Amino acid sequence: MNITARNISKSYKRKGISGEVQVLCSTDIDLESGKICLISGRSGSGKSTLLNILSGLLCASGGTVHYDGTDIYKLSDKELSLLRCSRTGYIPQVQSAVGTLTVRENVLLPSAVIGKGKDRFAADGLLERFGLTELADARPDSLSGGELRRLSIARALVNLPQAIFADEPTNDLDDENSRLVFEQLRKSADSGAAVVIVSHDRLAKEYADVVYCMQQGSLNREKGQL
Ligand SMILES: Nc1ncnc2c1ncn2[C@@H]1O[C@H](COP(=O)(O)OP(=O)(O)O)[C@@H](O)[C@H]1O
Ligand SMILES: [Mg+2]
Repeated sequence: MNITARNISKSYKRKGISGEVQVLCSTDIDLESGKICLISGRSGSGKSTLLNILSGLLCASGGTVHYDGTDIYKLSDKELSLLRCSRTGYIPQVQSAVGTLTVRENVLLPSAVIGKGKDRFAADGLLERFGLTELADARPDSLSGGELRRLSIARALVNLPQAIFADEPTNDLDDENSRLVFEQLRKSADSGAAVVIVSHDRLAKEYADVVYCMQQGSLNREKGQL
C-alpha cells in the first residue's frame, strides 16, 4: 500500500490554557510499499501525533491522507475502522493489551474484528517468533513490560498488514529483542508492506530506507529517498 499525506497540520486545545498549541504545520510525507521510513526527534516534537494521523486514528486539523488514492478521512467511521483492522497494523507507544483476554486472544483480536475467525495458526506463529509461546494462555497483568511490548507487535502483524505504524516499538526491549522486532518489520516491508517507525533506538537506522527528523512540527529528511 502507498500512503500520501499532504499539508498536514494539527493543533490541540490544552485544558486550562486559552488558545491552541500548533504541533504540526504543513507536513508532507510519502510511505511506499516495501520501504521502512524512520522518524526520530525530540520528545514532544509531534511524532506520535503524525503517526496517529497517518494511521487513521486522529483527524488532522488540516491536510489529507490517502491510502492508494483513497482519502481515508472521507470514509465513514465504520469503513475506516474496517480498513484499519484489515489492512494496517498499529503498535502503540503505550501498553494497550485487553486485561480480560489471554495473550493469544489479544493477538487474535484484529482478526476477530474483521470476522476472519480465529486465525490461531498465524497467532501461534507470531507468539513463537516473539518468544511468547509459554505465555499464550496467561493474562497480560502477569507479563513484563518487554513481554507486553512483544504482544502488541504480534497483534499488529496478525492480519499481514499492508501498512504498519510502529510508535517506539522497542521501548522496554533489550538489544536482542529490539533486533528481532526490527528484523520482523524489515521482513514485513520486504513482503510489500509500507512501514513507518517512530524511534530513538540507535539500531533502528540500520533497518530504515528513509530517515526523517521531526523538529518543531516539521519533518527534515536525513537519509534516503523514496
Ligand atoms: N490530546 C492532546 N491534547 C493536548 N496536547 C497534546 C495532546 N496530545 C499531544 N499533545 C501535545 O502535542 C505535542 C506533541 O506530542 P506527541 O505527538 O505525543 O510528541 P512525541 O511523540 O514526539 O513525543 C506535545 O507538546 C504534547 O503535549
Ligand atoms: Mg510519542
